[in-house]
Amino acid sequence: MQITEDFVALITGGAQGLGNSTARRLLEAGARVVLVDLPGEAGEKAAAAFTEEFGDGRAFFAGADVRDEEQVAAAVAAAQQLGTLRLAVNCAGVATPGKILGRKGVLPLETYRTVIDINLVGTFNVLRLAAEAMAANEPVADERGQGDRGLIVNTASVAAYDGQIGQAAYASSKGAIAALTLPAARDLAPSQIRVMTIAPGVMETPMMAGMPGDVKETLEALVPHPARLGKPEEYAALVTHLVENPLLNGEVIRLDGALRMPPK
Ligand SMILES: NC(=O)c1ccc[n+]([C@@H]2O[C@H](COP(=O)([O-])OP(=O)(O)OC[C@H]3O[C@@H](n4cnc5c(N)ncnc54)[C@H](O)[C@@H]3O)[C@@H](O)[C@H]2O)c1
Repeated sequence: MQITEDFVALITGGAQGLGNSTARRLLEAGARVVLVDLPGEAGEKAAAAFTEEFGDGRAFFAGADVRDEEQVAAAVAAAQQLGTLRLAVNCAGVATPGKILGRKGVLPLETYRTVIDINLVGTFNVLRLAAEAMAANEPVADERGQGDRGLIVNTASVAAYDGQIGQAAYASSKGAIAALTLPAARDLAPSQIRVMTIAPGVMETPMMAGMPGDVKETLEALVPHPARLGKPEEYAALVTHLVENPLLNGEVIRLDGALRMPPK
């Protein structure tokens, strides 16, 4: 797909981090974006900052919890008002740590459930409602009538494969997102909608900003090459490549500089 003025992208977790960086890159390419994030000031401010930079009518905020059917449906409807919803990017997520048997006792089931609910069920909720909207799009022109109606990009993590100590819930949620990718692509193929997942390594975003300098150095040293944290722009660049390359479908791409996480 080409990014044109009519191209609308819905990006969850768009207030900050990987989602925000992806929105910027898409705006630079000429798209319109709907930032979906928890209701509140952060999302409003992010959209206002983009409006200041890119002009009116380009970036909007839709406050929604990705777990909520009605709120996500409203965000999808808002995106459809702006043009053609061609891209949904699932970046909303939490990384709540917790050992199964920790110092404070056994991991509360509620903690596990909440991580699965936000990361996995939330991703699926956005995927299904975005797909429903995209299925009504005209496919982009293609010599064999096989152009895309849309693309859905999910975000897993290297924790899908090498979950560390304290990541039972997070790794379960991300592993399931990886496993969802192929059947979702197969389900949506008749609608000419592609589904791809990116599994980032350790990226330099607000999710990681709280860590002390020595922890950052230790993490950087784990990455074979380049031995540094990933940049959100590198994630955003991959999203735009996924938009442009119609053969990428049903696959998880690690974006990690060959990082393989040790147990802790
Ligand atoms: N940063 C990393 O190193 C890294 C590595 C691997 C995977 N990831 C994944 O990438 C995604 C983005 O990570 P990030 O570093 O940009 O995170 P971040 O914490 O900077 O941003 C996540 C955003 O999601 C929003 N969010 C959380 N729960 C939500 C909900 N229920 N509904 C709507 N929005 C919600 C938050 O408000 C926040 O704006 C996450 O899924 C994360 O697990 C990040």
